[in-house]
Amino acid sequence: MPFREDFLWGGATAANQLEGAYNEDGRGLANVDLCPIGDLRLSVISGRKKMLEFEDDEFYPAKGAIDHYHRYKEDIALFAEMGFKVYRFSIAWTRIYPNGDDKEPNEEGLKFYENIIDECLKYGIEPLITITHFDFPMHLAKEYGGWRNRKVIDFYENLVRTLFTRYKGKVKYWLTFNEINVILAAPFMGAGLYFEDGEDIEKVQYQAIHHELVASAKATKILREIDPDAKVGCMLAAGSYYPLTSNPEDVFEALKANRMSYFFVDVQSRGYYPSYKLAELKRKNILPDITEDDKKLLKENTVDFISFSYYSSRCISKDSRAEQTASNLLKTVKNPYLKDTEWGWAIDPLGFRITLNEIYDRYQKPLFVVENGLGAVDTPDENGYVEDDYRIDYLREHIQNMKDAVEIDGVDLLGYTTWGPIDLVSASTGEMKKRYGFIYVDRDNYGNGTLKRTKKKSFDWYKKVIESNGEDLS
Ligand code: BG6
Repeated sequence: MPFREDFLWGGATAANQLEGAYNEDGRGLANVDLCPIGDLRLSVISGRKKMLEFEDDEFYPAKGAIDHYHRYKEDIALFAEMGFKVYRFSIAWTRIYPNGDDKEPNEEGLKFYENIIDECLKYGIEPLITITHFDFPMHLAKEYGGWRNRKVIDFYENLVRTLFTRYKGKVKYWLTFNEINVILAAPFMGAGLYFEDGEDIEKVQYQAIHHELVASAKATKILREIDPDAKVGCMLAAGSYYPLTSNPEDVFEALKANRMSYFFVDVQSRGYYPSYKLAELKRKNILPDITEDDKKLLKENTVDFISFSYYSSRCISKDSRAEQTASNLLKTVKNPYLKDTEWGWAIDPLGFRITLNEIYDRYQKPLFVVENGLGAVDTPDENGYVEDDYRIDYLREHIQNMKDAVEIDGVDLLGYTTWGPIDLVSASTGEMKKRYGFIYVDRDNYGNGTLKRTKKKSFDWYKKVIESNGEDLS
């Protein structure tokens, strides 16, 4: 059997993309609430355009999302029906600490996630919690400048201490930051950062990154004190970079591009800044303020496992004229050997196996695939049913390659959660139209629809995959 007996099959979501109820039960305002759908989204999430309040003529999809806040029981029951062994979800920081720097946590927020955890446990589903999935309190963004400010580490520490204490014994797997490298492409969405004219953006980013890395190590330390049986992982937006040609110049570009991402895991898994990054930061004169205590903390508190998202491989060339396409918030050169999704993301199942191997070779720690899936337009019939064979095909080929990575290549893999088992708001575009789910949600890009949940064809397919522990992919 390629997959271990306790292999964790399931699905993954993020608070801001499905909960809605953005101002209910004491929740404070977050950066993710202020990311509109449409033309402005990219400049807002990248921190180039400041949007610190709601603007009248914009639509903000996170406000209502798919109303999971009020429907979580129905949604988790459907996950249980598919046979989920694990459900990955995230905490909205502002449900727990509405401003981020509050002295006391908000009991209603803590209760909400406790209910979700208990609902999962009722069905024998393991909760896997992302502490922050792009969520950041707006109060901390405005008053403290986001993660660029060292004090934010203390506020994060309060958050994790509260969560670990409250949910001790119930949650075995924690992730500190979702796709920590996304801060490079989307610093407002990823870290509550926006910039003033003339600011050295890269310098601010690396100071903020350093604070997140220290906060992640602190969280690891605290978890080991509070709940030594629980495990902590880092989380990377992965997808290996290929050189567009065998020209050594392209090969070197690919090496550098891969290091841009692996740098984060190098620190979180090995416990120190790699020499290539220190050299680069010194050369650019943007070395963050790194204290001796920080170094000690990083060294002593490395992660137990490495989790990542994989949607596509990436490609790079020295030639600036090479055609570009999108890939999970990052621009990449178009790979002539691969077909793209409707949103231009390359479809590369073998790239998944390559990425799994590359990461395992580099770190030799258990891996956890916490996101993978196909964002596509679904057209329901008159009963709301979607025949999503294209999604089944995508997942089948990816799971087959994951199986090969485990069975043939010997990668140690803990589990696999598909992205968005239920349709939810897209992070990069804010659309509902870009759907990943096994469950269709009747809601359009602008919040119209009944929110009714309907199983798609892929629902029964994934159920069978889980039942057979990945043996039956037909
Ligand atoms: C990852 C994120 O980047 O990819 C998710 O962790 C996101 O939040 C997912 O939704 C898919 O991207 P998108 O842009 O299609 O929603």
